[in-house]
Amino acid sequence: MQKFTSVQDVANIDELVNEALHLKQNPYKYKQLGENKTLGLIFLNPSLRTRLSTQKAALNLGMNVMVMNLDKEGWALETQEGAIMNGTTVEHIKEAAAVMGEYCDILGIRSFPKLQNRDEDYNEELLQQFIDYAGIPIVSLESATRHPLQSLADLVTITEKKPAGKKPKVVLTWAPHVKPIPQCVANSFAEWMGQANVELVITHPKGYDLAEEFTQNATVTTNQDEALKDADFVYVKNWSSYIDYGKVLTEGEGWMMNNEKLALTNNAKVMHCLPVRRNVELSDEILDGSNSLVLQQANNRTYAAQAVLKRILETL
Ligand code: CP
Repeated sequence: MQKFTSVQDVANIDELVNEALHLKQNPYKYKQLGENKTLGLIFLNPSLRTRLSTQKAALNLGMNVMVMNLDKEGWALETQEGAIMNGTTVEHIKEAAAVMGEYCDILGIRSFPKLQNRDEDYNEELLQQFIDYAGIPIVSLESATRHPLQSLADLVTITEKKPAGKKPKVVLTWAPHVKPIPQCVANSFAEWMGQANVELVITHPKGYDLAEEFTQNATVTTNQDEALKDADFVYVKNWSSYIDYGKVLTEGEGWMMNNEKLALTNNAKVMHCLPVRRNVELSDEILDGSNSLVLQQANNRTYAAQAVLKRILETL
């Protein structure tokens, strides 16, 4: 694997899931693989899970890890080609990414969308510039449009928990939130589930359709109750509008997942990538109950990252 920015970078997702499950049983088996190799983790946005699980994954593989909150600790980055840098930006990404490439063997980068200009965000300009200028393999720690390490961990979790001998019904349901949230997790989850052996249904209020490139293998409905019928897994997530880009179109009354809605399902396992707004997106009763898989998902982030780093290390 030369980079990990979307499901398209994975030749066989079943093999990668099995690799993650194998690493979960044998976390230190490949401790020699990362010896004298350095992972750089660059954050332009906050993180708890991605930061700690990816560090742990790298340490399990014997790697050195350097972490930088570039938005707070680095020089203000210029990303425009040909910019006359007589304003507030101090360092061009051409040098910054290339310097990081000198210090590291693999580079992870987190950069959320600004949610102001859809074309700018969906062109993944910053991620592409890191790929172009760093000169080393890049791992997305969540980009403007996708969160592939999360989606891989989610697929690992579904693989572990799915009912035996059945293609599981997986429902991705929109949930309310207090502010505009990127589409990344929902896009990525839809994209990965579209390649997995599951029946995928996406439900959201009118106006919240995701970009078609991510939902090609899904049934999409605005009737949440209908969608939830017989579900084996319910993945709860808010996202802002893609069509009316970055806007919140409704407060989403009645869309929060709770035990009443859970009763419509096949005793579904409930998933969320975290952080979650309790009693806005998901009720306490679900998060504190036995159907919640949120901690298992978070735990599997380590082995998802470890599988990806192992695959990349094997190519160095
Ligand atoms: N799910 C997830 O990516 O969590 P963090 O934002 O805390 O990394």
